[in-house]
Amino acid sequence: MSELKEVLTRDGSITLRSLFFQENFHSLEGAFKETEIKFINPSDLKRFKGKSLNVLDICFGLGYNSASLFSNLIRQNSFLNWYALEIDKKPLEYSLRNKLFQNLWDLKVLKILESLCKNYVYKDKFFECEILWGDARERINNIPANTKFDLIYLDGFSPQKCPQLWSVEFLEKVTERLSNNGYLITYTSSAAIRKTLRGFGLYIFNLKPNKISNNSWSNGTIAIKKIDEESLKRNLFFEKLSLMEEEHLLSKASIPYRDPNLNSNANDIIKKRVQEQLLSNLKTSKKWREKWGMTK
Ligand SMILES: C[S@@+](CC[C@H](N)C(=O)[O-])C[C@H]1O[C@@H](n2cnc3c(N)ncnc32)[C@H](O)[C@@H]1O
Repeated sequence: MSELKEVLTRDGSITLRSLFFQENFHSLEGAFKETEIKFINPSDLKRFKGKSLNVLDICFGLGYNSASLFSNLIRQNSFLNWYALEIDKKPLEYSLRNKLFQNLWDLKVLKILESLCKNYVYKDKFFECEILWGDARERINNIPANTKFDLIYLDGFSPQKCPQLWSVEFLEKVTERLSNNGYLITYTSSAAIRKTLRGFGLYIFNLKPNKISNNSWSNGTIAIKKIDEESLKRNLFFEKLSLMEEEHLLSKASIPYRDPNLNSNANDIIKKRVQEQLLSNLKTSKKWREKWGMTK
């Protein structure tokens, strides 16, 4: 735990700060709240009441996103086939020992998490779960090739801090795993990530903002392969990109992160991107921010 520090967030739930990545695992507004707002609500889990679904949680961390997913699915008798990718076991070991974390979940959710920590798998009549420990760039290859996901949660540290998990090459592997009507959900509204995902033919939506987001216009991004107009009309949580966001995708901020052999370190990926930005004729993101009256 030496490189992880405990942080209490404003909704009373705990999170961690990674000294290595120099970033918190969650927003200071609330770890639990962030999970609900940025991942669970837009998942529209009621669609799967009494039905089966496949979910992939990339960057499992302390387990908030999946604990909340499990909790909701247990209540509605869904059948879940679930995989997670995570490089470090310490966050889960930590959350399972923490009273504030334990108090959030019922016994069955805690039992699943305990089993994932100890045995890496959990199985009962409704749930079949497996966590693959190690670098997500490699371990994603260990998920059976024919498994496509209805929901993929992508919750790595920010692209500037952990570009390995936001490269064109990794995102392509992730996109290949998305089912036709599946939702790829992430908290980032980075132009580079949105443009990369759109480049794979996905439809990109903005996760509507509220108080919790660091910027006032977005809570993240949802990418979908095939849109079903009816469910889009029903959904309350995402919307088409605004003109401002579309123009963001035409600025240098949209230059992607590249990791051709899926084994580069963060510094090399960032350096390569800065070089590409310097050579690009696209509008600078400073100009884009000035046009839209952003101070940051
Ligand atoms: C923002 S935290 C995730 C928070 C988590 N979703 C939760 O609900 O607690 C980012 C996580 O990414 C993990 N991570 C960093 N690099 C990774 C990699 N290359 N492969 C897999 N996981 C990685 C970190 O160990 C950390 O747990």
